[in-house]
Amino acid sequence: MLMIRNLHKRFGGLHALENVSLVLESRKIWSLIGPNGAGKTTLFNLITGTLPADSGKIEFMGEDITDMKPHEICRKGIARTYQQKNLFPNLSVFDNVVAGMLKESMEEQRRKERVYEILEFLGLEEKEKEIVSSLPPLDSKLVELGRALATTPKLILLDELVGGLVPTEIEKICQIVETLRDQGYTIFQIGHEIRPIMRTSDWIFVLDEGCKIAEGSPEEIRNNKDVHSVYLE
Ligand SMILES: Nc1ncnc2c1ncn2[C@@H]1O[C@H](COP(=O)(O)OP(=O)(O)O)[C@@H](O)[C@H]1O
Ligand SMILES: [Mg+2]
Repeated sequence: MLMIRNLHKRFGGLHALENVSLVLESRKIWSLIGPNGAGKTTLFNLITGTLPADSGKIEFMGEDITDMKPHEICRKGIARTYQQKNLFPNLSVFDNVVAGMLKESMEEQRRKERVYEILEFLGLEEKEKEIVSSLPPLDSKLVELGRALATTPKLILLDELVGGLVPTEIEKICQIVETLRDQGYTIFQIGHEIRPIMRTSDWIFVLDEGCKIAEGSPEEIRNNKDVHSVYLE
């Protein structure tokens, strides 16, 4: 589904990504871990076209998307949530989710139905009129996810979606992510909390200082000495 080959990204003298290659098949939960500043968010920025790559290639479903604009990549079927809050704080839950929809793709009635489907799936149907800035953290994360789903993606990139949540809330997000995978979506998630990553992932990539230092099943990553020395305690 997604093929990344020899990707490089530099910020001045800093090598944020160095020769990163990875392959993601569809209908699985893929995870990206690594210390702060490893280049995880930068990789998402390159995949979604927010930042240009210096060199390398990104292919999505057989098509070269390396130099496409963010809205073109979104239309191809890649959605994301952001590490920093990225919602419209003064708009309602409904309006934030509807904002994710591609403009020309649906008639008004169908558009509303689709938003209600998403809100119901996320357990937000009672909160459609609430203003996003007044929501507790879990609900704002769910709205972020709802807005990503509204773009009718095939691949969903989640940048530290469970950051700042308590264990029961993290558990809820994990279940939603697994359900999405079972419904046929492909998930690529960045995680700082190691336990939910180990629990949900089909496959894990490890980045350190811009380089991919390991990849494997949760079990393999848990037992990898290189990974332990830079990341796992
Ligand atoms: N737009 C940018 N301009 C300059 N430096 C950046 C930019 N984005 C990220 N960086 C730097 O690149 C490195 C990787 O950052 P990032 O991808 O955000 O790491 P991570 O998400 O793994 O914590 C960091 O040293 C960060 O300061
Ligand atoms: Mg980050």
